[in-house]
Amino acid sequence: MTNAHADWWKQAVVYQVYPRSFYDANGDGLGDIAGVTAKIDYLAALGVDAIWLSPFYPSPLIDGGYDVADYRDVDPRLGTLEDFDKMAAAAHAAGMKVIVDIVPNHTSTEHEWFRAALAAGPGSPERDRYIFRPGRGEHGELPPNGWKSTFGGPAWEPVGDGEWYLHLFAVEQADLNWKNPEVHEDFKTTLRFWSDRGADGFRIDVAHALAKDIDSRPLEDWPDDPGQSCLAQSGSDDENPLWDRPEVHDIYREWRQVFNEYEPARFAVGEAWVAPEHQWMYASTDELGQVFNFEFAKKNWFAADFRLAIEEGLDAAERSKSTTTWVLSNHDVPRHATRFALPQVPSSTHHQIATDWLLRDGTTYYEDREAGTRRSRAALLMELGLPGSVYLYQGEELGLFEVADIPWGALEDPQAQMTAHGDAIKGRDGCRVPLPWTSLDATGDFGFSGPADHAAPHLPQPAWFAQFAVDVEEGDEASMLSFYRAALALRRALIVPTGDTSLAWDEANAGDVVAYQRPLADGRTLVSMTNFGATPVALPAGEVLIASAELVDGKLPQDASAWIACA
Ligand code: GLC
Repeated sequence: MTNAHADWWKQAVVYQVYPRSFYDANGDGLGDIAGVTAKIDYLAALGVDAIWLSPFYPSPLIDGGYDVADYRDVDPRLGTLEDFDKMAAAAHAAGMKVIVDIVPNHTSTEHEWFRAALAAGPGSPERDRYIFRPGRGEHGELPPNGWKSTFGGPAWEPVGDGEWYLHLFAVEQADLNWKNPEVHEDFKTTLRFWSDRGADGFRIDVAHALAKDIDSRPLEDWPDDPGQSCLAQSGSDDENPLWDRPEVHDIYREWRQVFNEYEPARFAVGEAWVAPEHQWMYASTDELGQVFNFEFAKKNWFAADFRLAIEEGLDAAERSKSTTTWVLSNHDVPRHATRFALPQVPSSTHHQIATDWLLRDGTTYYEDREAGTRRSRAALLMELGLPGSVYLYQGEELGLFEVADIPWGALEDPQAQMTAHGDAIKGRDGCRVPLPWTSLDATGDFGFSGPADHAAPHLPQPAWFAQFAVDVEEGDEASMLSFYRAALALRRALIVPTGDTSLAWDEANAGDVVAYQRPLADGRTLVSMTNFGATPVALPAGEVLIASAELVDGKLPQDASAWIACA
């Protein structure tokens, strides 16, 4: 389909809501679906095209809801199906689409299928929906092989009768067997269920892990650590049993048939942490439509790194005959305002510095918040001018930093729990702290909960949240929120309507400057320019539409971006 209506997602700005931490309408300290409905006006005023909700399904919340116990219901703590309907209707009435999260690699061990698998015993059809294998050793007391879970510890868990099940993530997240037709049918039912209830699209969790090749050689012959992307790096299609298998694409071609049952066709964006040269397959329009391009979220603040990320993203888009996505932050990575505030080390393993800094409660390195803010503003313009979709993570529009000093005892992320006594990492809670809506902390939660009488927010908020509260930023023209609103409005008015996805590098694009040109709806040409270096740079002749910092003698200073409309 080529009409603009059907292709809305190809140039959309999507706002990720992490429901438990967005807004709590009922006062239990956990954000909820009614809380999203209550803030639809805020999101519409921000100027986003769609909202994506991280999982809100019944879940023991071992992994923030990515451990789903029932794919076709709402967690009672977060609301009801009726609440979802109201939220979707409110979003649609405000002109916004709704994207829901699908978690097909694993279910919670509280899912009725997993309970049935335990009850039914070895060799049963119930066990075949998961990946159960006999243990090694005389009585099956040893794991089938040495695979490790992404969250630490072994990837196999014994169930007491000689069998073990596979979990690539937490023990409470059992991997499904995608060779079983019932699994296929059930997920198609889920996709239709939410499509019928008003979901316009889907975000697919760990999309690159579903197909597994476990039995083509004896389990103990596989390497202990297949690594998440060694397949992509090695270029060979059959070396990695777990990640990015070629057969995974059959699943998405099947889903495409379901998406196309709807008018307009549904789309999906896959979370696939694979090398850029493998991303395009997931994104092709006979599969999901889009895949996250996480390169911006991995880069340190260097012009060459961002230039490469842009080139690779555009290249992937061309190969998939779709569009790419740009992501600076999400619920799995330290917030970019903090990443850009910490020391920038060329080609350091991504997030290593932030991870170390978090581990010591934010004491190992100096967090230069002014630099972090400047660079975040500059990064936003660089990102919003590009062709493709932009995924924003809740709170980045307020310029929030990572919360580094959550006490260990208050952390919820299984990554932190599981590694607390080993090679520790603090996990991902620092970007999942409930949002500050009002600067007044009269009832101890910066307006996170609606009712005056409420439980404490599920993660503690720091005192400095007061400066970043929505009510403060709304009244301040110089705030991050005002800047986001202005930039989003310009993108919507002048860039997207052309329907032209071309980009040309500008002649200034070299050294410390990232500069590109795009067509504008009024016939002029946009030059987006970002200066990473210490020397201010001259701007081309034209109208400055917006700048992330004040110009210095008409020039663009360090860590700043500007959009110039040229004749
Ligand atoms: C994805 C989610 C992450 C979750 C993991 C396991 O990476 O984004 O939050 O922990 O999948 O479901």
